[in-house]
Amino acid sequence: MRADIIDGKAFAASLRRRIAAAVPGFVAKAGRAPGLAVVLVGEDPASAVYVRSKGKATREAGMESIEHRLPATARQEELLDLIESLNRDEHVDGILVQLPLPPHMDEAAVIAAISPAKDVDGFHVVNAGRLAVGQPGFVPCTPLGCIMLLKDRLGDLSGLEAVVIGRSNIVGKPMAQLLLAENCTVTIAHSRTRDLAGVVRRADIVVAAVGRPEMVKGDWLKPGATVIDVGINRVAGEAGKSRLVGDVDFAEAEAVAGAITPVPGGVGPMTIAVLLRNTLVAAHRRSG
Ligand code: GUN
Repeated sequence: MRADIIDGKAFAASLRRRIAAAVPGFVAKAGRAPGLAVVLVGEDPASAVYVRSKGKATREAGMESIEHRLPATARQEELLDLIESLNRDEHVDGILVQLPLPPHMDEAAVIAAISPAKDVDGFHVVNAGRLAVGQPGFVPCTPLGCIMLLKDRLGDLSGLEAVVIGRSNIVGKPMAQLLLAENCTVTIAHSRTRDLAGVVRRADIVVAAVGRPEMVKGDWLKPGATVIDVGINRVAGEAGKSRLVGDVDFAEAEAVAGAITPVPGGVGPMTIAVLLRNTLVAAHRRSG
């Protein structure tokens, strides 16, 4: 058996087209474009690349991109003041502070300063709490993108065994909440899990989000399982070049799974598409 490839790139492109097609409806109602503010602190090259592509995608969708850069040496107070002014700015519907922040800043305090109504990343404790109790709020982009891919592939997820590997606030925990809301039987596995292979082998759905290159092996998988690989790891490749791999050993998994997301081109492109979706939702909620 050879797994079907879940084409996240194509799904994300189609979602972005649908969002762009819906933006003029908001403009007609509100008399302005939806606005997304992205804040980058410091010069981390990977973060700079992400921020640039978020800005480009925002403009391509017909939305306004408001970009702010602070030096790595900025005081936390400066960042909090900037967030406060973005909270008050009527043209700003979504605020995203790119993580990680420099070590002298308190990430939890910074996220707490963002208005929950503009928290399109879904990282604020109010939005995390709403997800946990099943109230409408904002859901983190990457796990929401994973659920979209899973429902597109499998339809109703009810009753399926799902194993999430990784317990981060950004992916693992919200992913588990979303799968639970879809009536899956959910296990969260992590670095202290005993017999991880045995736990993963029970799963109809495996979501790997640990940041360890090619950790999940083919013989850990139940034949026919649907595998969502959230990992993006840069490893040494041939001829001194580097290459991107996921948290799943793709070559092995492809021979066992029913369907699998590739890296790159799987989950990655979904994150920005869902960010645009959350921004349009925020704009509509704020404009009543
Ligand atoms: N850093 C890596 N992924 C993300 C994300 O989804 N949002 C933010 N704000 N920072 C990130």
